[in-house]
Amino acid sequence: MNDQLNGISEIRVFAPATVSNIGCGFDIFGFALDEPGDEVILRVTNRKGVRLVKITGDKGKLPTAVSKNTCTVALTTMMEKLNLEFGVEIELHKKMPLGSGLGSSAASAVAGIYALNSILKKPVTTHELLPFALEGERISSGKIVHADNVAPALFGGFILIRSNDPVDIISIPIPKDFYCTILHPHIEINTAYARSILPDTIKTQNAIKQWGNTAGLVAGLMKRDYDLVRRSITDNFAEPVRSKLIPGYDQIKEAVKMYDAFGFGISGSGPSLFALSRTKLDALKIGNIMKKVLFQSAKIEGDIYISGINLYGPKILG
Ligand code: HSE
Repeated sequence: MNDQLNGISEIRVFAPATVSNIGCGFDIFGFALDEPGDEVILRVTNRKGVRLVKITGDKGKLPTAVSKNTCTVALTTMMEKLNLEFGVEIELHKKMPLGSGLGSSAASAVAGIYALNSILKKPVTTHELLPFALEGERISSGKIVHADNVAPALFGGFILIRSNDPVDIISIPIPKDFYCTILHPHIEINTAYARSILPDTIKTQNAIKQWGNTAGLVAGLMKRDYDLVRRSITDNFAEPVRSKLIPGYDQIKEAVKMYDAFGFGISGSGPSLFALSRTKLDALKIGNIMKKVLFQSAKIEGDIYISGINLYGPKILG
């Protein structure tokens, strides 16, 4: 056994889906969900390097080349940086939809590096893991790397990314009684495309509203002021453009207003939509109406996820 290892030769890890942006906080806010998420099985091998031996749940859509998959890119970066003298083989089990705005690529990268860290005799800190996950994210999102999926997937809870470069992240306390409803319409939106259609500039009046709301959302969470949270989850930047990519968006938003939701918007770059509420029952009712209105207005089916907020990040399954 290599003396860099702690004796564990195989491990199975879950890492969560995430909701990023949360209305006003484009590229700077994200929170983690209890479910869904991805699973990675990592096995130690004598041959150095990373091998991707199996992917399930991706309908054949994910690249199998180690240099193109977010999980294996993150792992390769970590193994090189830490000068690890052994090899690993990886099984990636996708348990969440791809291209859905739920941070699928981030969950895979985080599950991989968390698994590797968990078998090291001298594991690195969670903060030190973040740059490796970001290298994985770079593969899927292009030049500008945003930490608003990987950071909450890794740390859990609600994360403020004060700066993406250099990365400066802050955990914001989130009330325990938050439930999140996710509607995943059965369409795909490519994140790079959803970023390319955003305006290059923002009007001063819209910017003032946006930064008022970002500050309002942080204050609302910290003060447990649910009405302030609700008032602050609005978006004057991405939503006006991206909502046009999601059939039935305006009708679903209107329908959710009838319920006791205190936040509604596009999850990340979409097409998934999120709504926040304080009880599981409300979350279920909101999910049912979202799905119904999606079908009535756009003839598109969708999946509903009801989840608490994940406060711990990844977990070891075995
Ligand atoms: N903040 C990113 C975006 C998240 O909205 O483009 C992508 O999942």
